[in-house]
Amino acid sequence: MKAAIMGYGTIGSGVAKVLSDNAAIISRRAGEPIELKYVLDLRDFSGDPIQPLIVHDYKKIVYDPEIKLVVETMGGVEPAYTFVKAMLTHGKHVATSNKALVAAKGAELIQIAADNHVNFMFEASVGGGIPIIRPILKCTTGDVLEKVYGIVNGTTNYMLTRMAVDGAAYDDVLKEAQEKGYAEKDPTADVEGFDASRKIAILTSLVAGRQVDFEDIPTEGISKITPEDMKYAAAAGKKIKLIATMDACDDSYFVRVAPFLVGPESPLFSVDDVMNAIMIHGNMLGDAMFYGSGAGSLPTASAVVGDLVEECRHVMRHVDFDWDPVKLPLKNPAEQEYRYFVRTKAAKSTIEEAFGEVEYMEDVVSGELGFTTGLISEGVFEEKKKDFENIISVIRVLE
Ligand code: HSE
Repeated sequence: MKAAIMGYGTIGSGVAKVLSDNAAIISRRAGEPIELKYVLDLRDFSGDPIQPLIVHDYKKIVYDPEIKLVVETMGGVEPAYTFVKAMLTHGKHVATSNKALVAAKGAELIQIAADNHVNFMFEASVGGGIPIIRPILKCTTGDVLEKVYGIVNGTTNYMLTRMAVDGAAYDDVLKEAQEKGYAEKDPTADVEGFDASRKIAILTSLVAGRQVDFEDIPTEGISKITPEDMKYAAAAGKKIKLIATMDACDDSYFVRVAPFLVGPESPLFSVDDVMNAIMIHGNMLGDAMFYGSGAGSLPTASAVVGDLVEECRHVMRHVDFDWDPVKLPLKNPAEQEYRYFVRTKAAKSTIEEAFGEVEYMEDVVSGELGFTTGLISEGVFEEKKKDFENIISVIRVLE
């Protein structure tokens, strides 16, 4: 089976290594060896053993009938979309780690793959090396999945862990994460929650069997979290985590990405550093948790190569995914209920007038206090907030 990799960056080079280091076991499981024939990249890699395979024009791969498997690890929607579409329409199976591509074009590319009797697989697009797409699509098919939630971004989990452990400020931790290669030079997609919102959009689409647009998901990142917020979390015996959530309600879903206060009763409490974890709750299954390396070269490449083996096992048959391109309208986020932790300089009488009975946290940071509301809907909370001056910060509580 001849393969090509498009994009020789962190993950693409990991895929080449997995194919080479684990060649014997991959060959046994795939039923034949998978041999790398081309690596598409704009750059050259002189001195790297991969250099003789480097091509700069994707059409060289498209028009080579020997190539049956293509890995897309370029990232971004374009030109990945154009290249992947061309590969599928020319009868090549594709495996990708690219969540931006899958979130935006997944349903369409699955349909193109079906029309051309090939496969488009994307296990690595959510949770890196953690198996989560196939468990949802293949293993929980007897269940109604009512909740999917978790920590799906390693960069922000690393930063929040450092802020909690070292008491460091957001900017310092970001700098350190960039130096260590955990955060990109432009960290926006990670720190503002957009990466996580694409991942929960993909998972919700698969659970719903309908297209969920990440643009419809209310998304907050971690850039406003301060050392003072961390002090309150620690005083309450909790941690602040960036959580992506999906809750079934009636015939649709509440979906959100935001920082939440997570208590020790949640398995997500112990998920620190760059690790990811995704919880699913089915009406029959109850809870299941998928924990592991959510990013990084080899873990992500491992999931990509797993897809290649799966594609080798289904060379002559399209494996269908239930993902209708017709968009699913999400539930109105204003209707979702939370308890909110609020920091303020307001007097207790003002707080109670607005929010009724609350739980206070005093003497954590001087000159202010914290309180946690009862369960109220996002819409009602936003209304109350308007008349309530002196709010320093608000964090939802994970129930
Ligand atoms: N930047 C992403 C993360 C990479 O930190 O999780 C994996 O999608």
